[in-house]
Amino acid sequence: MHCVKNIIKVSRPLIQKRLLNNSAVNPATSASAASTISNKIKEELHKPGQDIIKNAFQVNQDNGTRPIYLDAQATTPTDPRVLDVMLKFYTGLYGNPHSNTHAYGWETDKEIEKSRKQVADLIGADPKEIIFTSGATESNNMAIKGVPRFYNKTKKHIITSKTEHKCILDSARHLQDEGFDVTYLSVNEDGLIDLEELEKAIRKDTVLVSIMAVNNEIGVIQPIEEIGKICRKNKIFFHSDCAQAVGKIPIDVNKMNIDLMSISSHKIYGPKGVGAIYVRRRPRVRMDPIITGGGQERGLRSGTLSPPLITGFGEACRIIKEDMSYDQKHIERLSKKLMDGLLSMEHTQLNGSKQHRYAGCVNVSFAYIEGESLLMALKDIALSSGSACTSASLEPSYVLHALGADDALAHSSIRFGIGRFTTDEEIDYVIKAINERVEFLRELSPLWEMVKEGIDLNSIEWSGH
Ligand SMILES: Cc1ncc(COP(=O)(O)O)c(C=O)c1O
Repeated sequence: MHCVKNIIKVSRPLIQKRLLNNSAVNPATSASAASTISNKIKEELHKPGQDIIKNAFQVNQDNGTRPIYLDAQATTPTDPRVLDVMLKFYTGLYGNPHSNTHAYGWETDKEIEKSRKQVADLIGADPKEIIFTSGATESNNMAIKGVPRFYNKTKKHIITSKTEHKCILDSARHLQDEGFDVTYLSVNEDGLIDLEELEKAIRKDTVLVSIMAVNNEIGVIQPIEEIGKICRKNKIFFHSDCAQAVGKIPIDVNKMNIDLMSISSHKIYGPKGVGAIYVRRRPRVRMDPIITGGGQERGLRSGTLSPPLITGFGEACRIIKEDMSYDQKHIERLSKKLMDGLLSMEHTQLNGSKQHRYAGCVNVSFAYIEGESLLMALKDIALSSGSACTSASLEPSYVLHALGADDALAHSSIRFGIGRFTTDEEIDYVIKAINERVEFLRELSPLWEMVKEGIDLNSIEWSGH
């Protein structure tokens, strides 16, 4: 535990360096209260030797020393630069952005439109095509349910894949209950869909294809541009869940022929509870809204927009666009180091394609131990197992199953999520800790003993009780 504390300390100068290089603090706001707060933070951030993350990365002392964070697919820490932009909307700039009769409304509306452009710029879209939502779960629900429901008189079929996020699969099941047909494409052992299988699955009444760009469990990147071409050729709408892709790999809605796209703010160092859906205007995509009411967001998503969350999201998009190549180099370097350190252990394997992958998501199986036991033995590192990341159940991962992994392999998998603020020291610590504890747990395993004795486990006939 002592070591962890030191490692977390080491990570702070990096954040500090990044923040100061990027001139963390924006000009003070028009509202005086907000400006005072903003200036106070600015002073804090620039004090020499100051503990810079005190304000933005509040450490919860109640839980004692905190583990190293290596779960970047679950969420990312809010970048302090993002927080700084958000603060003024909790104090001085509290107007409802839909109030169009006075300055309070106009000033927040102006900021919302600036954020809309920041989101659009990140994916090559027109700001008018961005609809703010509460996150990618809502955006995915809107696309999967909303588009087929609108065209339901003539179209009754959608196509997706078996390795999509639960919120896509669950929305598709709801559609089936309403009488729609859904084709769930298989993936190969690399986790990639087969484009020929996609073409074969297309029917006259297919209205939508939904394929994610980067998988949240194994980091595999699907051939989005090719899928887009097939959909456009067949005049079918193409939706992509890009929650784990936007800002991490280059995404351009026009180059990739994407008609609808889901984005989440908290996966890119923005606040939680906000996201967007991109909805193409030409050729126009129509959809039934899920939330109706005041008709905000082109009538597709009613409800008062949240200026603090949306401006934080916009700033997160601006930063990640600007920093993409820096982040990418940093993450790729650490990812290689981690993979080299883990895969040099015997009986380990990387899950998912080696070539078509996002470097920040590394999913490794450690044969002859249970991922859950390993997680228990790694309390000093915040990780997620492939087997239990979407629910509280201990069901083996459906994603790894879809790749052909058996229960034992799926159960022995761990996902390592590397992000903007991960440091070399943290990766060094993790490699050492995993090596030691895998060895320790294997020593306790009777299976491992048999493997060491050269017994082929497949030759054993196990008796059931
Ligand atoms: C691929 C993918 N889609 C959708 C979501 C849901 O995103 P949100 O938390 O913004 O609702 C996640 C988050 O885990 C994800 O990884």
